[in-house]
Amino acid sequence: MRRALDLAYRGWGRVHPNPLVGAAVIDGEGIVSEGFHGEFGGPHAEAVALAAAGERARGATLVSTLEPCRHAAKQPPCVERILATGIRRIVVALPDPNPDAGGGIELLRSAGVEVDVGLLAERAAHQNAAYLQAFARPFRPFVAVKLATSLDFRIADAAGHSRWISGEGARDFVHWHRAGFDAIGVGGKTAVLDDPSLTVRGDTEPRLPPRRVIVLGSRKLSREATLARTARQIPVLAVGLDGPELAALAELGVEPVPASTLAEGLTRLRERGIRSLVVEGGGRLAGSLLAQGLADRFVWIVSPLWIGDLGVPAVRGYEVPSLLQAERWTLADRKGLGQDTLLVFDRS
Ligand SMILES: NC(=O)c1ccc[n+]([C@@H]2O[C@H](COP(=O)([O-])OP(=O)(O)OC[C@H]3O[C@@H](n4cnc5c(N)ncnc54)[C@H](OP(=O)(O)O)[C@@H]3O)[C@@H](O)[C@H]2O)c1
Repeated sequence: MRRALDLAYRGWGRVHPNPLVGAAVIDGEGIVSEGFHGEFGGPHAEAVALAAAGERARGATLVSTLEPCRHAAKQPPCVERILATGIRRIVVALPDPNPDAGGGIELLRSAGVEVDVGLLAERAAHQNAAYLQAFARPFRPFVAVKLATSLDFRIADAAGHSRWISGEGARDFVHWHRAGFDAIGVGGKTAVLDDPSLTVRGDTEPRLPPRRVIVLGSRKLSREATLARTARQIPVLAVGLDGPELAALAELGVEPVPASTLAEGLTRLRERGIRSLVVEGGGRLAGSLLAQGLADRFVWIVSPLWIGDLGVPAVRGYEVPSLLQAERWTLADRKGLGQDTLLVFDRS
């Protein structure tokens, strides 16, 4: 299953809003074949692994990170293919919450296949969090907050400069990470101070370029800002109060998203097809998302430098009355990115 989860990541940026799925056929001697869902609408992981196994699938075990589908959509149902190959046992990490696709487990069991569910389920849920959320909370996108901070949890110096806190290795990760989201967002102040382009410029080319989102607040975006200038090439949405600023941005090709609260803004984004959003700062927007229970994941890059009290805090406006009320999140991933460290936490 660990191998299948790794394989599933090869579809990152290419399959969403479909799930990431990896699979392997194993027998008493080890891994017979492998597969992953590599393109939206393309062959499913199980089908790829089964085709590669050929006759060796008979009597073997199929491991899959997600319940095999039982519906015919862009691809034929995996359940039928599994039954045709003579697989004896299936190990699945997660049931599929999609009411159209799910139900494969029951069908396989009733056909006499042994099915085990739940192996490494937490890791599988982490991997497909945006997909799962689309069914569990269809009224807003899955929201990951990503920040690069100093050792003392600052995201910029006293003058508001944040380029560059993190190093090269972290930047490669950030571009890979962006590729797996429907949209990349920033707060209004970050949009003004940093003038980001919020594009994917790494080795992983997303099937669709993520849309760009500005949570504007009372800020005005310069007509010369990169996001304003490029809005007709890659869509930009501005979330804010209905008024002259949104109307002026609309003339530049920015899609206005009128909303009076952050929660309403997220709902409006979801209605526009954004199921997953990575918010890349700044600290105020991060703090508001946390305070309002609207952040699902924290992707934290810690860099080995000290910025001190004059720097911009990584999270602002988030108050917890006491340790007893402090939310404890789950560590989902940690690894080194050159001199920097990546820590990923999920809301439990
Ligand atoms: N190291 C990093 O990873 C990183 C990433 C991004 C940014 N930065 C740095 O962070 C600094 C900017 O961060 P910041 O904390 O000052 O500002 P910020 O979070 O980028 O921007 C706050 C903006 O969002 C608007 N907003 C609208 N609705 C909001 C809501 N419900 N809650 C919070 N904000 C809302 C605010 O509007 P109002 O104006 O109406 O309050 C304000 O314009 C810059 O110096 C930038 O370089 C660093």
